Amino acid sequence: MKFFVDTADIGDIRELNTLGLLDGVTTNPSLILKSGRDILEVTKEICAEVDGPVSAEVAATDYDAMMKEAAVLAKIADNICIKLPLTLDGLRACKALTSDGHKTNVTLCFSANQALLAAKAGATYISPFIGRLDDTAINGMELIGEIRTIYDNYGFQTEILAASIRTVNHVKEAAMIGADVATVPPATLKALVKHPLTDKGLEAFLADWEKTGQSIT
Ligand code: G3P
Repeated sequence: MKFFVDTADIGDIRELNTLGLLDGVTTNPSLILKSGRDILEVTKEICAEVDGPVSAEVAATDYDAMMKEAAVLAKIADNICIKLPLTLDGLRACKALTSDGHKTNVTLCFSANQALLAAKAGATYISPFIGRLDDTAINGMELIGEIRTIYDNYGFQTEILAASIRTVNHVKEAAMIGADVATVPPATLKALVKHPLTDKGLEAFLADWEKTGQSIT
């Protein structure tokens, strides 16, 4: 499973990249707002930091305007992935951009039929929003399973990018169901390493090591 980080905070991205944990980055208008940065400036910095795809989202809603914005975003760097909303215009733009050789990420997916349409439009990634479905008492993880089945039935190459991940269990379940990628907030990504028995075990090993009086040199 590939790990993307879901943030536009360059500090968090640099830290996780140094750990060797990052396969890519996803951003959206809300994350750009949270960063307080100019979209073109911060996206350029992120693209220079990370080798993998960096999703940058269009803000337009009609096809022509989306294509104009996509052209501006695509110029930022070679590893830009154009993020488009799951609307008819977004799907049309997806088809055109994919045919032009661009990477695309179709976002705001809440149903298996929407994911089917995105695959038919040639999307590189489909982003089903797990947490936001859970918020409405619908099991978001079931959607990941449905999309996996449909894509496997027909051999669609579109990668399932589990998004709106809120917990470490979301990451585990998405991995078990077969999502290709999880885009995870920085704190949740770092929390994956935590286990109280790891901390307790390490403490005991260090205490015993101290008692040996040895050093590894
Ligand atoms: O990038 C889209 C996404 O992951 C949104 O997450 O927590 O705002 O539902 P959230």
